[in-house]
Amino acid sequence: MTRAAVICGLGTWVPPRVVTNDMLAAELDTSDEWIRTRTGITRRHVVNPGVSTGHLATEAGRRALESAGVTGVDVVVVATSTPDRPCPATAPVVASRLGLSGVAAFDVAAVCTGFVYGLATAAGLIGTSVAKTALVIGADTFSTILDPGDRTTRVIFGDGAGAVVLRAGDHEEAGALRGFDLGSDGRGVDLITVPAGGSEQRGSGVTAEEADTYFHMDGPQVFARAVRHMTSSVRSVLKDVAWDAEDIDHVVPHQANVRILDACARELGVSADRVVKNVDRVGNTVAASIPLALADASADGRLEAGQRVVLTGFGGGLSWGSAALTWPGITAVGGER
Ligand code: COA
Repeated sequence: MTRAAVICGLGTWVPPRVVTNDMLAAELDTSDEWIRTRTGITRRHVVNPGVSTGHLATEAGRRALESAGVTGVDVVVVATSTPDRPCPATAPVVASRLGLSGVAAFDVAAVCTGFVYGLATAAGLIGTSVAKTALVIGADTFSTILDPGDRTTRVIFGDGAGAVVLRAGDHEEAGALRGFDLGSDGRGVDLITVPAGGSEQRGSGVTAEEADTYFHMDGPQVFARAVRHMTSSVRSVLKDVAWDAEDIDHVVPHQANVRILDACARELGVSADRVVKNVDRVGNTVAASIPLALADASADGRLEAGQRVVLTGFGGGLSWGSAALTWPGITAVGGER
């Protein structure tokens, strides 16, 4: 039997600058009332000029290592779709800033599903004895790729980073990752995308329109698919680990929109109080979303050692994924916003 990957540390970091709905309404044709009722978001954190994804990832990684009480790991995985540069990956720089030069370090790009994909990748490396420990960081600064004049995306996204430390352990112990469900559908590539700046546009020889260098999203289409894929993915992982929906103590979904989370809860037959939500305070932080929600739920005492937790995410690609785990007896560093 392969070894289990066990969560033994959790750390987060959001940039200190808070942007409220009223601040956005002062520069865009929107209102606090529209944003609250259509998304559930009241504020988000946004980086100042000069701060990039790698900086946030380093801060969250440092806190996760502190939470785990360790100074080193065998591999660093950074889940992000706003890397510091198109090439190379952000993870090696983050590892070096953490004093971990020399370890394996690479990025995983699965947009809002990135953290679940990163967890599955690291769990696989631990399960096959390639690594004994891993630092998995979800970090994004979507504020750097949003069209300043696009009210539909500006109101939704925030910046942040969250990280966990994994170690090799036993499948039955608290903190063990029990199972995963991962999926994708590239036919939805245009629903969540930055059309220009990659090899597709550069290789076409056509100069990019400025609008195409920014993030584009088809909100209503994404909304419907997010509900469908997160619920079916949760059902798949539950089947895999032989848990029923009523066995779950907490569902920790990607924090996309409070209406998406409520719809998923209804579809799954999980009561609202068992769905962790912090989208109101941080918005959609993409790959950082799930670990930020975990840290807030840990800090306010909702997550207790041994409880059954299901993580689920959906995002660009399209991509989706879920993980089933039992919660470890750890103290998060950097939770509660
Ligand atoms: N303020 C005011 N009005 C806005 C607005 C804003 N920030 N954004 C859009 N509107 C308007 C639209 O222009 C539209 O006006 P119209 O009816 O005159 O054409 C109206 O509100 C309804 O737009 P629609 O896009 O149908 O609204 P919606 O209820 O679907 O909400 C989203 C829009 C983006 C909040 C919602 O679709 C969503 O959250 N989608 C998922 C996004 C997501 O999670 N993406 C990340 C990947 S996981």
